[in-house]
Amino acid sequence: MTSRIRPLPDDVVNRIAAGEVVERPASVLKELLENAVDSGAGGVEAHVSGPFPFSLRVTDDGCGMSREEAELAVRRHTTSKIASADDLERIGSFGFRGEALPSIASVARVSLVTRLAEERSGTELVTEGGTILSVRDAGAPRGTTVTVSRLFENVPARRKFLKSERTEMSHLWEVFHGVALPGEGISFRFVDPRGTFAYEGRESALDRAKRHAGDDGQYLVPVDVSSAFFRIYGWAGLPQVSRAGAGGLWFFVNGRRFRDRGLYAAVREAYRGILPGDRLPVLYLFVTCSPREVDVNVHPAKTEVRFRYPRDLNELARHVLGGALGEPPSRAAIPVHAWNERIPPAGQWPPSPAPGKEMFPGATASRGPCGSPPDMSLAGVTGSPFPHPAAGASLVGELPFAERGGEAARERFFSSLVPIGQVLATYLVCEDADGIVLVDQHAADERIVFSRLKDRYLGKGAPTQRWLDAVEVGLPGVLPETDERPAVETFLARTGFSFEPAGGERIRLTGGPAALPGFDARRWWEELCESLRAQETLPKDLFDADRELWRMACHTAVRGGERVSTDRARLLLAELDAAMAAHSCPHGRPVWIRISRARLEALFHRTG
Ligand SMILES: Nc1ncnc2c1ncn2[C@@H]1O[C@H](COP(=O)(O)OP(=O)(O)OP(=O)(O)O)[C@@H](O)[C@H]1O
Ligand SMILES: [Mg+2]
Repeated sequence: MTSRIRPLPDDVVNRIAAGEVVERPASVLKELLENAVDSGAGGVEAHVSGPFPFSLRVTDDGCGMSREEAELAVRRHTTSKIASADDLERIGSFGFRGEALPSIASVARVSLVTRLAEERSGTELVTEGGTILSVRDAGAPRGTTVTVSRLFENVPARRKFLKSERTEMSHLWEVFHGVALPGEGISFRFVDPRGTFAYEGRESALDRAKRHAGDDGQYLVPVDVSSAFFRIYGWAGLPQVSRAGAGGLWFFVNGRRFRDRGLYAAVREAYRGILPGDRLPVLYLFVTCSPREVDVNVHPAKTEVRFRYPRDLNELARHVLGGALGEPPSRAAIPVHAWNERIPPAGQWPPSPAPGKEMFPGATASRGPCGSPPDMSLAGVTGSPFPHPAAGASLVGELPFAERGGEAARERFFSSLVPIGQVLATYLVCEDADGIVLVDQHAADERIVFSRLKDRYLGKGAPTQRWLDAVEVGLPGVLPETDERPAVETFLARTGFSFEPAGGERIRLTGGPAALPGFDARRWWEELCESLRAQETLPKDLFDADRELWRMACHTAVRGGERVSTDRARLLLAELDAAMAAHSCPHGRPVWIRISRARLEALFHRTG
């Protein structure tokens, strides 16, 4: 009897692999761009044209391939990037599986034109549906051009799963930026029927990210921190810019974009109280680490990675974001450069980009000849130095966080604004070097009061005052048969209330934090008890302290609708500089927004 089990023919194997690797036009573009970067190119151009689902062409000036290499490249499991299983432990290139080209070739028509630098003529190879149609000598510039057309023509089922032309086009853009943003030293161009977008070779990753953010760029603050294993640097968005989903999150590790639930959770944690719970920020985080710290061989499309010490990374991210957002904004931290403008000159943050490779075209390839194992060092991957773990480094206890620099030199942001007046009895109108800054006076006031209460709570000794009339309140009565008094008293004492027992289940409040002018203690207490009863729990240290401090802030602050004098406005601005996380009110509404000069010019059609 013949065996029912038999090896699959190559074309079927490739088609199955393609199912994992090539989901949509954007997956093709991603693989082609990554190959171009791996080729050591100094310039890469992506060209999208033709009817949906598009023809894609990616040109690079990298190492190119010989005729034999080109024929091997479209076969399965053929790669120049790793040679042994050990190499999988320290991958320094985007590719390593030798699957991308054969997978693409099995579901499309692929033309590959390539020439080695040292050879005079090149090779043109055409495949369709996984079969090589022709291989011939051809004149070609140095490097490689791969053109992919007729995508999914032989797999109509896959075509049906594509979204609209617009959506697929936006995925293409997303993939382009995902590869180009960290690609320091390489120039990238994206050309589609509507126009061209380019990153210059010498543009740093930070500059690229800023430009990518467009008008939102003015609400990004820098972050940079290192631990024994990781460096995280990039930009953190203030609450003025946020998204309903994860679309604003750009995480890279050693130049590779990735998604990570653990990191998302750390981000949410860092933005708690700064953004509403259902919003996510705009973030560009570039993580660098030794390739040994991260396994990139865990996802078919290589969009997820696994870290050896994920908790360290998440903790580091939370720490650096918390620090950046908790700081009062400073003029240095909130660059006022608009879309398309250049970023601060050398010497200022961010650091000027390292001298990059030459710009496309005519740049020289930096990697060794194709066919040799890649340079496994990270030089050129992100262009950033990163700390290697010291031998035997211990992971116990606190991470050795690096100090953030330059804080002393910062100018105070809010105090530097010139108040012009007030509109709609709600917004302070101020001017700064780059346009108009509007401050929501109620949100600002809430944040100031909250910050003072929090200082007091953290034992920083904000003043308290005795009240003329004591206020008697009852214990919350959340959990029957539990003595709530110790927890309640601890909270009240820490928050700056003075009190005495008033018999039975009652407490007499005799004073409170001085930060609460016009505070209606009885109403606050009733609301507090109501919310605790609704949750039917009395958390360990009684309350989620931050939430209760906000509630108190809310019961006192200046309401919108109140006229504010210029002097009061100046005072408010100075106080904002002293407040914690002054970018948003405790509910996550922004405290301030800027209408930039560039925006005004666009509104008045002053720009071309
Ligand atoms: N643009 C290019 N320039 C030079 N060589 C290339 C280029 N594209 C592909 N190659 C060569 O073809 C080989 C196969 O490419 P392919 O993308 O299929 O696999 P890979 O990049 O090695 O791994 P992966 O499947 O993970 O992408 C590469 O290892 C490389 O040697
Ligand atoms: Mg590849």
